[in-house]
Amino acid sequence: MSFAELWESLRPIGRDPVTGGYRRFSWTAADLSCRDWFSATAAERGFEVHADGNGNLWAWWETASTGGRAVVCGSHLDSVPDGGAFDGPLGVVSAFAAIDALRDRGFTPAHPVAVAAFTEEEGARFGVACLGSRLLTGAISPGAARGLCDADGVTLADAMTAAGADPARLGPDDELLRRIAAFIELHIEQGRLLADTDAVIGAADGIWPHGRWRFDFHGRADHAGTTALGDRRDAMMPFAATVLAAREAAARHRGLATVGKVVPEPGAVNAIPSMVRAWLDARAHDEGCLEELVAEIRAAADQAAADHGVTVTAACESFSPRVAFDPGLRARLSGVLARNMIRAPGVSTGAGHDAGVLAARVPTAMLFVRNPCGVSHAPAEHAELTDCETGVAALAAVVEEMAARA
Ligand code: GLV
Ligand code: MN
Ligand code: MN
Repeated sequence: MSFAELWESLRPIGRDPVTGGYRRFSWTAADLSCRDWFSATAAERGFEVHADGNGNLWAWWETASTGGRAVVCGSHLDSVPDGGAFDGPLGVVSAFAAIDALRDRGFTPAHPVAVAAFTEEEGARFGVACLGSRLLTGAISPGAARGLCDADGVTLADAMTAAGADPARLGPDDELLRRIAAFIELHIEQGRLLADTDAVIGAADGIWPHGRWRFDFHGRADHAGTTALGDRRDAMMPFAATVLAAREAAARHRGLATVGKVVPEPGAVNAIPSMVRAWLDARAHDEGCLEELVAEIRAAADQAAADHGVTVTAACESFSPRVAFDPGLRARLSGVLARNMIRAPGVSTGAGHDAGVLAARVPTAMLFVRNPCGVSHAPAEHAELTDCETGVAALAAVVEEMAARA
């Protein structure tokens, strides 16, 4: 099947008709529809499908003549709130399309080839990014994961149970990891580097270290119309100061700091907030720099809280160390792409990916497809069809080489 046909079959699922963005949160109805799409797509090709204990999906192209360890391609199907169509799904659809192209040209793999779709990569529902790949590799304990709560207080364990999955099966799976020779994640580029250099495909060098920190500012609720400014313990004030301090610190450190989610309580227009809970996303080119950046933001939050008679606590909710992708695999990919006349300059990214988490246990690599506007995590995220087709061709060439003689 062509990339375009496959893409169209997934496109309507979880799309908000008003914003045009996607709301595919793990273990919700939209996510279950994406899972059904994955299983049906695999079944149409005669591939065996299984969900591992962490809900990650695997579709296996195996024949009587395949043996040894598998070449795995894929990405994730979940989204951020009002996310774009491409972040994640492009890698999964391209993996199936690449296999279709190889089968159409009569390629018979010597090694198994698999397509994977990882659960809760965005951490949009349960707060921890790359949750499925972290669980698979043992980077988070199953007990801690089971207790993660969404915004309505539903635990991951309860959400999985309601969706028909068994949370008792969460945890590392060494046997599955041992079956993998390499994982290659194709992804939309989340920036304009390729657009500015005129290349369609990029090859990832590495991923910046990054993490998420939750700040809880506790003040005192009171009447907005009767409480003198000097008598207030307004939790919103140190929160606001912290957002500005984060931006300034990020600029000083040449890093990135974003506060994209904030929940005030009680959330009334005419009441002073008693509590403000906010999430900081911080990233930098090296871990020392990130540590300093976050320490400065925490110090600014402490100072601003003290100035306003408010208390503040900060806790790290997820952390991803710097990733340098496997140089041997990277060189092999570059060679294949060069032989296929596909130029693929190196790209370093601040965005997190399952390939980065898996890199701790198996050789991984990433290919990026040009995004003309550079926008991601928003409905405007885009890749041209012809560029997606070049991505499929690149992935097919890589799989052909690696599954022939891994
Ligand atoms: C995932 O897209 C992330 O970098 O947050
Ligand atoms: Mn993303
Ligand atoms: Mn992604």
